[in-house]
Amino acid sequence: MAVSHFDGNVWSIPEIQDVAPLEIHPSAHVLHYSSEIFEGLKAYSRPDGSAQIFRLDKHVSRMKRSAELLFLPFPGKEVVTRVVCDLVAENRESIPPPPDGALYIRPALIGMDPNIGAAGTASETAMFFVLNSPVGAYFTGEKPLRIVIEEKGMRSVPGYGSAKTGGNYAAALGHVLRARDEHQADQVLFCPGGDVQETGASNFMLLDDETLVTKPLDDNAVLHGVTRDSVLTLADNFGYKIEERDFHADEILAWIAGGGEAALSGTAAVLAGVGTFIRGGTEYYAGGEGGLVGPNTKRLRDALTAIQNGTAEDKFGWLTKV
Ligand SMILES: Cc1ncc(COP(=O)(O)O)c(C=O)c1O
Repeated sequence: MAVSHFDGNVWSIPEIQDVAPLEIHPSAHVLHYSSEIFEGLKAYSRPDGSAQIFRLDKHVSRMKRSAELLFLPFPGKEVVTRVVCDLVAENRESIPPPPDGALYIRPALIGMDPNIGAAGTASETAMFFVLNSPVGAYFTGEKPLRIVIEEKGMRSVPGYGSAKTGGNYAAALGHVLRARDEHQADQVLFCPGGDVQETGASNFMLLDDETLVTKPLDDNAVLHGVTRDSVLTLADNFGYKIEERDFHADEILAWIAGGGEAALSGTAAVLAGVGTFIRGGTEYYAGGEGGLVGPNTKRLRDALTAIQNGTAEDKFGWLTKV
């Protein structure tokens, strides 16, 4: 892991150290007022022993935006970029091999002001740290997912959907746990009032042989997914028509009834096909009874993982080699 502290004036030189508990005052701003943001990205090992980080610049830019939304001091894009690269270089030998293995990189930034009465005050001090851990596939990509359509609850307060902050995951958790318990579901798709947004941990798309449909980006409701952007770029390059537009939960059911596919995109999910939607207790299947991952989902997933693993050319300049 790497750690740097901001005392209100300067950031300390980031230190790479063994993973160990952090020291934090019990009245620290983050523990009471949730001044926390984070990122999640991956590095992949290459046959020559080096490593490559996927779309580091996009993740660093999003982290800066999240820090602004939570009024947290930010160490600067250059510093974050350098710390992530140095830490991946340090952990290069611990990256499990492709196709499914990767190094998960978790940068985080927390408010440290030791002041219990600071609910209405931005934290002037902060800690930035990066934690790396080896991972395998989160969803294998083969298993079609079960997704509950949630039309009442929301995963974030409007205006904060584009912030990668812990509070949004806390807000989604009850829905996710209930969906798992009651319907053996993998995730919940938040569609307040029918408006299709995203799941608790990924963006959402409809696709078929010609078209890809996904919600447009705004600051209000959805995280600006790096995988979403990458899949849209690949799909556009393959000649799919890209429709970034709002759509209703009814359209999902009509889309899969007509033979279309649905998928979740994210650093962990990569591009994972949905086989079953559960709405109002009734199950609806994509790709036939029981649900199947469709060919367009597989095609785009394979194209993406080939770039990430270095078996296809990095023609969009997405990889940072370390
Ligand atoms: C709520 C949410 N939406 C979307 C995504 C997808 O973002 P990305 O593709 O940048 O990982 C994530 C994270 O993986 C997420 O937590």
